[in-house]
Amino acid sequence: KIYPVILSGGAGTRLWPLSRAVLPKQLLPLVTDKTMLQDTVLRVSGWPELMAPLVVCGNEHRFLVAEQLREIGVTPLGILLEPVGRNTAPAVAAAANYLRAIDPDAVMLVLPADHVIDKNVPFAQAVAQAGALVADGALATFGIVPQAPETGYGYIHRGERAAGSDTAYQVDRFVEKPDRATAELFVADGGYYWNSGMFLFRAEGYLRELAEFAPAIADAAEAAVRLGYRDLDFCRLDEAAFSSCPSDSIDYAVMERTRHAVVVPADIGWSDVGSWSALWQVQQGDAQGNVQRGDVYLDGVTNSLVRAESRIVAVIGVNDLVVVETPDAVLVAHKDQVQRVKQIVDHLKSKE
Ligand code: GDD
Ligand code: MG
Repeated sequence: KIYPVILSGGAGTRLWPLSRAVLPKQLLPLVTDKTMLQDTVLRVSGWPELMAPLVVCGNEHRFLVAEQLREIGVTPLGILLEPVGRNTAPAVAAAANYLRAIDPDAVMLVLPADHVIDKNVPFAQAVAQAGALVADGALATFGIVPQAPETGYGYIHRGERAAGSDTAYQVDRFVEKPDRATAELFVADGGYYWNSGMFLFRAEGYLRELAEFAPAIADAAEAAVRLGYRDLDFCRLDEAAFSSCPSDSIDYAVMERTRHAVVVPADIGWSDVGSWSALWQVQQGDAQGNVQRGDVYLDGVTNSLVRAESRIVAVIGVNDLVVVETPDAVLVAHKDQVQRVKQIVDHLKSKE
């Protein structure tokens, strides 16, 4: 049986000022009129081979997450609460321990709560292909054909065809967040995919690799689940155990090191909506290429994203701008420079 595990713990700082610590991007209706968490959960609802989802999120977001699931009529298998964020390797490890206790053969479909996938049928096919490969403990990734030498992604070099599959490959090499020059070589090579950040593996298979490469994380996550307790609809991970866990991503802790990874190429209309320009890209703009939301007035504006949350925003005679208005902060940026939004957040934090 396959259990969707939805990771809903990130901060989405590059979508400031809309995405904030109290209300990060996955809990906002950024792309559709549902939140990204809701769209992610609905995407994997109603597939016959999938169980109800397990959501992993920070303790401070528990009521928002529970309410957003209720709104779409989905009863989760559980909501695992992290007392502190320790990045994705521990979050996935906690979920793996939780699931293994329910079902020793549990297969997990790890999905970030903040990605866009346009093509649901190819996505379901990719998941089915991955499902056929993990019985012996392989860790399946979903590979996206790279469009640019992005340095914020993991890169997967494909090796030989995976045994018994005519679509998947063994992973020859996994490189998380290479520098620019390396990313350019990878894109030019043609044999590399972007890691989509979604994974499929047996809970047991992941925990075995984690115990080998990051035993401190494996031990802390196991203890956090064993000592954790139910609270209403939530499962609280033990605070002392989880706080003592080292912080690391699944990509650095496991995927770069394992020899049991496979990659399923996935042409699924994927975007991780990591920036305002990416959000502009995934949305259907109007005839002028503008994406607008809220009380917005545009005159002679093209290829821009303009968003008004609480006031009227009027923009005249400019191109390629991002304008985002919220009650307490306004962003105006060139669409090609929005990666620098992260620095605003760092700057504001340093002033606190
Ligand atoms: N529950 C929980 N707890 N979720 C978390 C935590 C945590 O501590 N940290 C991050 N997440 C969630 C984020 O919300 C996001 O949905 C997902 O896990 C991935 O984390 P990111 O922090 O966004 O990772 P990244 O973008 O730097 O890199 C990953 O994703 C890329 C694709 O978007 C890697 O897997 C890369 O290899 C990959 O290319
Ligand atoms: Mg990300």
